[in-house]
Amino acid sequence: MTTIRPLHQSDIAELQAIDEVAHGEAWSTAAFGEQIKLDAVRHLVAEGDAGTIVGHAGVWRDGPTWRITNVAVAAEAAGNGVATALLLELLNDPHDCDRIELEVRPSNRGAQRLYNRFGFAPVGIERGFYDRSDASSSRDALVMAIAEPNSTAWRDRVENLRQTINQRTGDHSTGNHSNRGEAA
Ligand SMILES: CC(C)(COP(=O)(O)OP(=O)(O)OC[C@H]1O[C@@H](n2cnc3c(N)ncnc32)[C@H](O)[C@@H]1OP(=O)(O)O)[C@@H](O)C(=O)NCCC(=O)NCCS
Repeated sequence: MTTIRPLHQSDIAELQAIDEVAHGEAWSTAAFGEQIKLDAVRHLVAEGDAGTIVGHAGVWRDGPTWRITNVAVAAEAAGNGVATALLLELLNDPHDCDRIELEVRPSNRGAQRLYNRFGFAPVGIERGFYDRSDASSSRDALVMAIAEPNSTAWRDRVENLRQTINQRTGDHSTGNHSNRGEAA
């Protein structure tokens, strides 16, 4: 069973280890700590059976635009709906939000498939967005966005996704609906 709950200070080392593998680098402890403290940020972790963290995702509520800041799942937990469950919870109630944006590497087709299922569509390229080049020597990001997260069409889409993932896994639960992480 996977539980989705807010990020705690004591989780940070585990998240850094996941990100080192998933992204090839990780935020500093201070940067993760900021995600806990800032009211505008909501950062969730997915905890597996043994209490081990298997993934995490965050959103920065930048006024009416929400920005996905990070999504990563431990390699050994991939393909089990963990990222889908995290995003379903993170984007659960987009009130006061008229746009959701994220950046992803153009070469990262797996992540783009995940985002497509949520209705994110490509809206542009941000040149030199990443500090590090990928295997094709690119530092560019593909910008993807959901234009109307309050529309009935989008809410229906997300509800369908929720039902599909529940049928496939039946085992993702939400440990805490708090809008803020709490230091452990
Ligand atoms: C991209 C990433 C976040 C996806 O995480 P994930 O937990 O594997 O994603 P999900 O399981 O929700 O969905 C991935 C696939 O598993 C499938 N899946 C979901 N639940 C499943 C289940 N119960 N059984 C079998 N397959 C399942 C999905 O259909 C999807 O299939 P696809 O590869 O054809 O698109 C993860 O691979 C990762 O951390 N990558 C490195 C970092 C990264 O790219 N981050 C995002 C860009 S910033």
